[in-house]
Amino acid sequence: MSQIRVLTGITTSGTPHLGNYVGAIRPAVASSRRPEVEGFYFLADYHALIKVQDPARVQRSTLEIAATWLACGLEPDKVRFYRQSDVPETAELNWLLTCVAGKGVLNRAHAYKASVDRNREAGEDDDAGISAGLFMYPVLMAADILLFNAHKVPVGRDQIQHIEMARDFAQRFNHLYGGGEADELFVLPEAVIEEQVATLPGLDGRKMSKSYDNTIPLFCPRPQLKKLIYSIVTDSRAPGESKDADTSNVFQLYQAFADDAETAAMRQSFADGIAWGDAKAALFERIDAEIAPLRERYESLMARPAEIETILRDGAARLRSDLAAPRLALLRAAVGLRALSQISSGDAAGESDKASLPVFKQYREDDGRFYFKLVDGERVLLQSGGFDSPRDAGQHIAALRRDGFHPDDRTVTLGEAVVVEEVRGALAALADEDARKAAQKKAIAH
Ligand code: TRP
Repeated sequence: MSQIRVLTGITTSGTPHLGNYVGAIRPAVASSRRPEVEGFYFLADYHALIKVQDPARVQRSTLEIAATWLACGLEPDKVRFYRQSDVPETAELNWLLTCVAGKGVLNRAHAYKASVDRNREAGEDDDAGISAGLFMYPVLMAADILLFNAHKVPVGRDQIQHIEMARDFAQRFNHLYGGGEADELFVLPEAVIEEQVATLPGLDGRKMSKSYDNTIPLFCPRPQLKKLIYSIVTDSRAPGESKDADTSNVFQLYQAFADDAETAAMRQSFADGIAWGDAKAALFERIDAEIAPLRERYESLMARPAEIETILRDGAARLRSDLAAPRLALLRAAVGLRALSQISSGDAAGESDKASLPVFKQYREDDGRFYFKLVDGERVLLQSGGFDSPRDAGQHIAALRRDGFHPDDRTVTLGEAVVVEEVRGALAALADEDARKAAQKKAIAH
């Protein structure tokens, strides 16, 4: 119940490199195995279209990144693993958020501002060559996160601002459409920066990044890996001359793959004057020892793209029916995209509407435990099992109202002859009512 939702995406615009592996993929796979983590990992292919307008490259990168996640040990039946564009609810939420996002907030986004600055330097018009997609990038990213009410979002430092924007849009949305503090529509996400994960230096010593063209592809063949490692820029200290581990790219890369004892031994070798060639040989062997088994899995996955396609489609289909579709039904209702059959004819009709609304009833049984049920008139739609405290029961009700009903929720059972759609309809009707009340409250306040 108290699982933490962790969500992260990788844009499908390139080939994964060692920096992506050490900085994002390896820690994400490790965290996905922790029992308290409910992990969401996706291929951000809508985002890729902002940067890459070469269809074959988007497709190729999607395959490579999907195969990389799987080769590195992500278990698609234990986590949520999907392709962004297979969950079109993302695009619809993107629009709902677009309508609350402040344009002024987006004006301040680093990526957009950097493009404007480059234009100014070149003496061009401010917005020359800048697509509205680039400008709206943070809203799409907020949709990824808020659709699933993720609590934690592991990202690089350059993405912190985007998480702050997602919080801002979520707050505006909650304020406009939420039913007050106890019943917010969106959880405010937090950025997670892995402090102990060093940014990996690239071949030239600057941060390993595609934009510097200094990367080592994660799954390049062994001979190419060797060649690239030997091409890492070093100073000109001769063999036998003592070398400073802390300022060396070779050492930093080594450290990212070695355990504490190996790292300490290598630090000693640096002080003792190890030759650069020998240090690089040790680095190559250390990296290859970790990567070789993954590379083998990667190559076999890459040879079976149809299988990966099935895994992704299956992941998205389950995610949509369990979470995305019910969430979006709730959000649509909240903003007023509602079934006309449930229309309330003005405020005066509010009271009579209420009589027909479903309600959650909380109670205590003789066994001393706390229960609730969702009833619509005489009909019991949902029946909970026993909770230890009224607070636990209340929290579960709040989660149902906020996130919708998932058929795999074991703490509740459907009433007799009740179908899932009926429960979702009832929750949507409650959301409608909350939205109506919130709108009324605002109207009075103004
Ligand atoms: N913008 C992220 C990047 O370039 C990728 C991304 C898209 C993402 N949507 C996301 C990351 C949602 C975390 C959460 O690295």
